[in-house]
Amino acid sequence: MKQIKNICCIGAGYVGGPTMAVIAQKCPEINVTVVDINDERIKQWNNENLEDLPIYEPGLKEVVSDARGRNLFFSTDIDKAIEDSEMIFMSVNTPTKTYGKGKGMAADLKYVELSARRIAEVAKDDKIVVEKSTLPVRTAEAVRSILDNVGSGVNFQILSNPEFLAEGTAINDLLYGDRVLIGGDHSTPEGQAAMDALTDIYAHWMPREKLLQTNVWSSELSKLTANAFLAQRVSSINAMSEVCEKTGADVEEISRAVGSDSRVGPKFLNSSVGFGGSCFQKDILNLVYICRSMGMDEVADYWEQVIIMNDYQKKRFADKIINTLYNTVAEKKITFLGWAFKKDTNDTRETAAMYVANHLMEDHANIHAYDPKVAPRQMYEDLNYLGTRSEEENKALLNVEKDPYEATEDAHAVAILTEWDEFKDYDWQKIYDNMKKPAFVFDGRNILDVEKLNAIGFKLYQIGKSDS
Ligand code: UDX
Ligand code: ADP
Repeated sequence: MKQIKNICCIGAGYVGGPTMAVIAQKCPEINVTVVDINDERIKQWNNENLEDLPIYEPGLKEVVSDARGRNLFFSTDIDKAIEDSEMIFMSVNTPTKTYGKGKGMAADLKYVELSARRIAEVAKDDKIVVEKSTLPVRTAEAVRSILDNVGSGVNFQILSNPEFLAEGTAINDLLYGDRVLIGGDHSTPEGQAAMDALTDIYAHWMPREKLLQTNVWSSELSKLTANAFLAQRVSSINAMSEVCEKTGADVEEISRAVGSDSRVGPKFLNSSVGFGGSCFQKDILNLVYICRSMGMDEVADYWEQVIIMNDYQKKRFADKIINTLYNTVAEKKITFLGWAFKKDTNDTRETAAMYVANHLMEDHANIHAYDPKVAPRQMYEDLNYLGTRSEEENKALLNVEKDPYEATEDAHAVAILTEWDEFKDYDWQKIYDNMKKPAFVFDGRNILDVEKLNAIGFKLYQIGKSDS
């Protein structure tokens, strides 16, 4: 196998951008070019002002500033980057299908297929193709079939290298991840050489024992399994949150008690308004779809329940707001603090906030939303994507705010949807003074200081605790 001197990554998104920036920073002898069909996105990655990168991740701008222009490049010239590279990462989006067979369940592989075809058409010499997008099991087979049949006789080695980074901690996860999976074909010398070439790249900064080589199918399925397990923990604790509310137990005490069992562990046991993000729901739906289509209905039902529970948690939170506000939120100002699916990211994919807002808007609430990082346009796009009402109606019912104090002025209720740290430090007395009374706060993340807010006079609702 040739030495890797040039890497290309197709897709400059949440996965491709940070991952390639870290590879470039840690492997100064390798040129890394990230390409995308979205001209605007590439312009943003090339922006002089590092505050204007297309995604927000703590530590990202420092890594980009180290490597950009040295051995990290962002470009729309996809063909040239493919041609010049020995190794090509596919990091395009794989959303849940919104049409046709498998609608609402299966992953839409159209972008994967298009980039595989592009690689096949352009490649003039042997390439290692690395699947980085989250893909259903056995996608590599489809990619192989396209590459072998469309290509002009050059050899392709296909590897699966799923991404385990979580948004908001992407750079840290990339630098100090628990493991890297490299799935490939052990049975041929070329397959093994390709796996070793990718392993050597990660070995620039990761200890060798964390670099696990598996077969392609195990690698693909491990990613779905890891996300299904993590989401299941959140749904499990969220299920218990309702039991706590109805019985007087405290969900945080339950999490602590259960999480201190070393067999369970303390992570991913924070009860919330519901999980969001681009992976959990999509990956589970994917798993459910695969199981159903292969006749494993019991397995499919088992995993589907994780999603059903999550949907229920979002609806339950919205209903709690309506019920508490005397069974109607019509024309009432409800302020959302937070819109992103979790803190320290501007990503809103599958965020609980849009579902809760949508539910309240069905009851004619006026939502005023403030998020430190999410662009106003994005919030409207999220609601429009749900397709519940017209764009004009969404515009009329959602007001995007720039200042948290203005956002909460004259509000009937404040709801915390994202656990941004800054929310804890607000001047809650000032917020209280300017709100309508009784002043309700619905903390969907259990981040606020209960005693302080109670002493001020708020009526506070927390997830998984009896009302105070
Ligand atoms: C996830 C996986 O963690 C990552 O390994 C994979 O590569 C992509 O999917 P991500 O979606 O970025 O990462 O964020 P994550 O931190 O896993 O959170 C997902 C959702 O679960 C968020 O909405 C978060 O708020 C919620 N969550 C998480 C909880 O509600 N409670 C918890 O205890 C943990
Ligand atoms: P992820 O979270 O998986 O990184 P994103 O949606 O953030 O997903 O990023 C995927 C990127 O892939 C987008 O910027 C999109 O424009 C890009 N993309 C999709 N299809 C292609 C393609 N055929 N060629 C190049 N880029 C593509």
